[in-house]
Amino acid sequence: VTAAPTGPPVDGPVPLVGVLGAGKLGEILVAGLLRGGWPATRLQAAVRRPGRGAEIAARYGIVTGPAERVAAVAEVLVLAVKPQDAAALLDQVAPVVPAGRLVVSAVAGLGSEFVAGRLPTGTRVVRVMTNTPARISQGMSALSAGTGATAEDLDVVERMFTPLGATVRVPESQQDAVTALSGSGPAYFFYLVEAMTDAGILLGLPRQVAHDLIVQTAVGSALLLRESGEHPVTLREAVTSPAGTTISAVRELEVHGVRAAMLAALEAARDRAREIAAELR
Ligand SMILES: NC(=O)c1ccc[n+]([C@@H]2O[C@H](COP(=O)([O-])OP(=O)(O)OC[C@H]3O[C@@H](n4cnc5c(N)ncnc54)[C@H](OP(=O)(O)O)[C@@H]3O)[C@@H](O)[C@H]2O)c1
Repeated sequence: VTAAPTGPPVDGPVPLVGVLGAGKLGEILVAGLLRGGWPATRLQAAVRRPGRGAEIAARYGIVTGPAERVAAVAEVLVLAVKPQDAAALLDQVAPVVPAGRLVVSAVAGLGSEFVAGRLPTGTRVVRVMTNTPARISQGMSALSAGTGATAEDLDVVERMFTPLGATVRVPESQQDAVTALSGSGPAYFFYLVEAMTDAGILLGLPRQVAHDLIVQTAVGSALLLRESGEHPVTLREAVTSPAGTTISAVRELEVHGVRAAMLAALEAARDRAREIAAELR
């Protein structure tokens, strides 16, 4: 395994960040921080299994260890465990976390009050929902000031998540909606690519050709949308000629209620995020 490339050093004082839970998201964050020039000496990761700790240490050149060891020294703690493991992790680290620490909850459904309530008085919490394109610095991270968080805290967290992609600030009350839209969002696009590839096969194209056509069309459309700044309706109308092929397809999408399905699907995801939050309480 080769060491991850690192960027130019970041300016100014750099807090010691402890990523608690080095699974998929934790590793994305570690790699992203290093890519953004965060010094490896200012980053630690907490693991449950020593084997995983050794793997992360070898791959990124950072200190790894059990959560209580990392949480005792880190100035900014990032919670990156599954929702069902969050309470146990907080109880594990609470006795060693000094008062007044900044804690970033990257856990779906884990509200800042829940986090602050299980850690020493004065703990400040920022909530973040990111997504998997963060792996290639194309993530979308939504930040919310939670219990006790200051404007400076949001700046620190924004600086940490900027190497992972775009960032936006939203009120914490909107985090369940964000989870439904951009947190789960990549899955909807992958689902669409899968379905369109199947359609290509139905039309007689080899699977690989259909896949390549759709992936590049997805990338091109996304970049056009972002870089032109034009409304999606305008861009769609530009490919929809009178009595043409596109409008025939669009009619079928309407007949099959695809728009209504999107609305219902995202509402279901938002409701599930709320349910997970309620189960944690
Ligand atoms: N993956 C995503 O795209 C994504 C996107 C946005 C948000 N999130 C959020 O990120 C969180 C983590 O998701 P994930 O996909 O990264 O899960 P994951 O791959 O299962 O990673 C969680 C990691 O936390 C470790 N862990 C659990 N309890 C621990 C403890 N007490 N001390 C140290 N390590 C501990 C687990 O160790 P073991 O290996 O021993 O189980 C595992 O490696 C979730 O809450 C999710 O809502 C994920």
